[in-house]
Amino acid sequence: MTTKYTFKLGDSEINRIGFGTMRATTGAGIWGDTPNRKNAIAVIRKAIENGVNFIDTADAYGPYTSELLVQEAVAPFKNEVVVATKGGFIKYQPGAVIPNGHPYYLRTALEGSLKRLQKETIDLYFLHKVDPNIPIEESIGALAQFQQEGKIKHIGVSNVTVAQLERAQSTAQIDAVQNAFNYNDRRFGDVVKKSGELDMAFIAHTPVSRNNWEDSTLTIAGKSNMTTSQLSLRWLLDYAPHIISIPGTSSKDHLMENLRSYQLESGI
Ligand SMILES: NC(=O)c1ccc[n+]([C@@H]2O[C@H](COP(=O)([O-])OP(=O)(O)OC[C@H]3O[C@@H](n4cnc5c(N)ncnc54)[C@H](OP(=O)(O)O)[C@@H]3O)[C@@H](O)[C@H]2O)c1
Repeated sequence: MTTKYTFKLGDSEINRIGFGTMRATTGAGIWGDTPNRKNAIAVIRKAIENGVNFIDTADAYGPYTSELLVQEAVAPFKNEVVVATKGGFIKYQPGAVIPNGHPYYLRTALEGSLKRLQKETIDLYFLHKVDPNIPIEESIGALAQFQQEGKIKHIGVSNVTVAQLERAQSTAQIDAVQNAFNYNDRRFGDVVKKSGELDMAFIAHTPVSRNNWEDSTLTIAGKSNMTTSQLSLRWLLDYAPHIISIPGTSSKDHLMENLRSYQLESGI
């Protein structure tokens, strides 16, 4: 059963503040290894020990270094954590990616993720971005094939419009969508609404984005005894019950501050 602070993804009850690993597990420009691998593993493990049971990564982060680190971090917690990863984005230099949604490429990407995560089945596999040169039906059709082979449990799509989400959903069962959504950036409010109607998880990436905070918002945060990160996360908890946030951090203090959002009153 879904409660106020959990979302049911298949047979997994996910706590609605997860952990995004993109920055903490990589170097500058989301390239190469993090300069502090030991710390990244410790922060992820502390997150899990404090109730986080949804971890987000992607083959493009590093590339590959993030998945390898995540595998090591979650190894002692086998079966307690849902690990989501993504394919369909090629990271070719610091700060730069290009989409590739060709079915042959997606198979290579998936096989690599399975090896790095040391899994036979990926819990949740996202098409990271729609390739403008490949109809979304072909990319999603490939993921549906991998699902039939038992290599993917749930299929997700990322960085999509409502029209793309509908096309994906008419090709295969889509269980999650992952787009940017936060207090300052509500461009994908229509995708939040549509995914709720379709009973999918909406994974809010970049949830505590610190860009473009308006003075008025900072004032609200100050008055409410919340930090701006807590304000963002609390706002997402209250916005809709199918939203799961995936804040990322390399700091145990920031992690615990973020998780305290469950206990705070919104006031906005
Ligand atoms: N699907 C996609 O295309 C896509 C795109 C972007 C991101 N994502 C996913 O979304 C996750 C989160 O995205 P993101 O890292 O871009 O944005 P974010 O989680 O909104 O923000 C992360 C940044 O905020 C800081 N931070 C976190 N908590 C804080 C706190 N309590 N106080 C002060 N600073 C705090 C972190 O720095 P410190 O390390 O100093 O705490 C880090 O620099 C990623 O890890 C990734 O999994 C997916």
